[in-house]
Amino acid sequence: MDLFEYQARDLFEKHGVPVLKGKVAVTPEEAEAAATELGGGTVVVKAQVKIGGRGKAGGVKLAKSPAEAKEKAEEILGLDIKGHITRKVMIAEGADIAEEFYFSILLDRANRTYLAMCSVEGGMDIETLAVERPEALAKVEVNALTGIDEAKAKEIVDAAGFEAETGAAVAPVLQQLWTVFKEEDASLVEVNPLVKTGDGSILALDGKVSLDENASFRHADHEDLRDIEAENPLELKAKQLDLNYVKLDGQVGIIGNGAGLVMSTLDVVAYAGENHGGVKPANFLDIGGGANAEVMANGLDVILGDEQVKSVFVNVFGGITACDEVAKGIVKALEILGDAATKPLVVRLDGNAVEEGRAILKDAAHPLVTLMDTMDGGADKAAELAGA
Ligand SMILES: Nc1ncnc2c1ncn2[C@@H]1O[C@H](COP(=O)(O)OP(=O)(O)OP(=O)(O)O)[C@@H](O)[C@H]1O
Ligand SMILES: [Mg+2]
Repeated sequence: MDLFEYQARDLFEKHGVPVLKGKVAVTPEEAEAAATELGGGTVVVKAQVKIGGRGKAGGVKLAKSPAEAKEKAEEILGLDIKGHITRKVMIAEGADIAEEFYFSILLDRANRTYLAMCSVEGGMDIETLAVERPEALAKVEVNALTGIDEAKAKEIVDAAGFEAETGAAVAPVLQQLWTVFKEEDASLVEVNPLVKTGDGSILALDGKVSLDENASFRHADHEDLRDIEAENPLELKAKQLDLNYVKLDGQVGIIGNGAGLVMSTLDVVAYAGENHGGVKPANFLDIGGGANAEVMANGLDVILGDEQVKSVFVNVFGGITACDEVAKGIVKALEILGDAATKPLVVRLDGNAVEEGRAILKDAAHPLVTLMDTMDGGADKAAELAGA
């Protein structure tokens, strides 16, 4: 889950990372009031959207008074930044910036470790810097067990080429940012810019944090950080039904059991779709091992709620839950859904009790259901039905 900048700011503050005061506003009037509460001096009005490049898109503006903050908020609220509409702004205290640096901690999947990246040339052009002068962006491996301790922080600031005094001031902030990363179970903590102010203090001026939702069971408070309004309504519904569902952009709804099987079903359907006008999978949905009728009905209900879906491919390999159970589940699900089931269903069963399973579906003879023997055959049939 990606956080808004103001949420990242709050987490930074909680773990002792130096940040400036900030207040969220959803109307120009609130922005004016927030600027007044912050002392009435210079503030920065910042678009809160979960996408980079806000500054360049006109989403970060300086305001010298509360009245000006109101004007700037008027300009920024509603602004479309790369397809993200700005619904909130953060009013932040204005910083006296002397230098801008870059720092991030992320998961380096390829090398199976964490990675810290740091540069003395931070700010809005870090992406260009990373491409054109990669040597100016230090990359330092971070061991998951030892993290960023004093020695590691020094290694990072040295690799980035900070002069001694600034490096010594930056290092403890890097340790605090590791605390955020570890304690909050983040998969990304990025600060750009990390700044040195006129009086030599270090501040995290802009933060980007992604939280690892696999760890949400130990962070009850993270639930509040969710942006319900921006979430896909189908994914939200699936989450409430405890389904493992991800909305994609195609026309063939997919239901399978086991993440591996579902992933390969997506591939096979995309491949088959090339022969049927380029139709694609509409979703990922893994109904898991113990798929009873209710889970099947819930899954179908979510998938059929997707207006883009033209056909559904149910691809199940019977294991602990045998094919006859799955077949009964499909029949029952269609009963539960009644008239809500409107799109053709292609079913491929294999594995434990496959003959019994097929017999159950044949006997039920539901007009929407087509039984196929193989995964490739099923994918092709589903793609054909979606392409028609
Ligand atoms: N509180 C502040 N006071 C003074 N200047 C600021 C403040 N916040 C941001 N700035 C200036 O605005 C620039 C852009 O701000 P920020 O980094 O928050 O947005 P961005 O980099 O455009 O957004 P993103 O990181 O999403 O791409 C900063 O590099 C900094 O120079
Ligand atoms: Mg930034």
